[in-house]
Amino acid sequence: MLTCHPSTGGLHGAVTVPGDKSISHRAVMFGALASGDTHITGFLMGEDCLSTISCFRQMGVKIDVSDDEVVVHGAGMHGLQEPSELLYTGNSGTTTRLLCGILAGQPFRSVLSGDASIQKRPMGRIIKPLREMGANIDGKDGNLCPLTVSGSALHGITYTLPVASAQLKSAILLAGLFAEGETTVIEPAPSRDHTERMLRGLGVDVRTDGNVITLTPPEQLTAVDVAVPGDISSAAYFLVAGCIVPNSEITIRNVGINPTRTGILDVLRDMGADIELVNCTDDVEPVCDIIVRSSRLHGTRIGGDIIPRLIDELPVIAVAAAFAEGETVICDAQELKVKESNRIAAMVSELSKTGCDITETEDGMVIRGGKPLHGAQFACYADHRVAMSMAVCALACEGDSVLEDPDCVAISYPTFFDALHGLEG
Ligand code: S3P
Repeated sequence: MLTCHPSTGGLHGAVTVPGDKSISHRAVMFGALASGDTHITGFLMGEDCLSTISCFRQMGVKIDVSDDEVVVHGAGMHGLQEPSELLYTGNSGTTTRLLCGILAGQPFRSVLSGDASIQKRPMGRIIKPLREMGANIDGKDGNLCPLTVSGSALHGITYTLPVASAQLKSAILLAGLFAEGETTVIEPAPSRDHTERMLRGLGVDVRTDGNVITLTPPEQLTAVDVAVPGDISSAAYFLVAGCIVPNSEITIRNVGINPTRTGILDVLRDMGADIELVNCTDDVEPVCDIIVRSSRLHGTRIGGDIIPRLIDELPVIAVAAAFAEGETVICDAQELKVKESNRIAAMVSELSKTGCDITETEDGMVIRGGKPLHGAQFACYADHRVAMSMAVCALACEGDSVLEDPDCVAISYPTFFDALHGLEG
């Protein structure tokens, strides 16, 4: 239990958010498959990324973790060893799904599973294309973890994704590294493209033409150091807090602004947010500092192709909408139901407790915002993004709130509450 007080004087100062979760996972995975050492700075020491490290250690990869960097001593594309025990992926969908793509191409048998949430998440979406590629992969009841994968020869396929999912796209592309011939993935809408960018950086021929991505299997991967930018999904909590808490001005430093991830900036600006991007640089991934100031927000409509560009930010966007004047409609977001929790049901239930006028729909929610909200006792559903979203909400409510399971923030942002309090002055 954690008691959260409303902010009295506003939020001020600068915050550096932890490293990007998606990039941190991939840096370890690709480093493990590369020849040579990969030095990773800015790595996210959250539970999800630590699950990825521990799975690769189980397959014989030497990984050194110190305060300022993670060093992956690459095993090479064909150097992973058969794990003697189940690969435990914890709460991490990215670890589970991307790892399956890699395991599909290994000449050994492995079993992987995770916590109660992972055991409920759909895996049929990766099983189907990987089987088409020739993989020997099976899941409990055909769709769930534990997943069993045993080595077989793979061949490239052309696959149209039924959902815009970077995890699914990446699982297929990673299996494609070990396949004979080219692998092509067609996306219904662009999802985060870190896999494509990073594989290109490792020398792999990955071509993107609109929504069509084609990979030619390489002979080997050559290790490249990775500087992980701050995670815009973690910055999202400060972006919304800065907008809805009166008298605030926050600088969020070193945030990754890959265009496949910046839907939240577009939506908040569309709602009237005062957001400025400064000190922009562009290497493998574009990065900048973001300044956000208290803003009078108004409702908006969020749906269509923007959804994959802000999928993880929708819980905290719902909080912004609760404090925005007028109606916000979120649609085309059915994927939210199969995240770490059912995030539509969770956010509708928790925001309702504050007196917010919010209705669940088939594929999203409708929020009629702008009236004063009051603190309450919030459940977190063991979901880090629900916990951080409700902590932000509590700052702008009247009266205290209680978070029932604050520790789950350690999945992606172990020092979140310290960072938030640091801005309260
Ligand atoms: C991720 C992709 C997204 C996102 C998840 C991380 C990734 O999932 O929600 O937090 O690193 O590829 P989906 O691709 O399943 O939408």
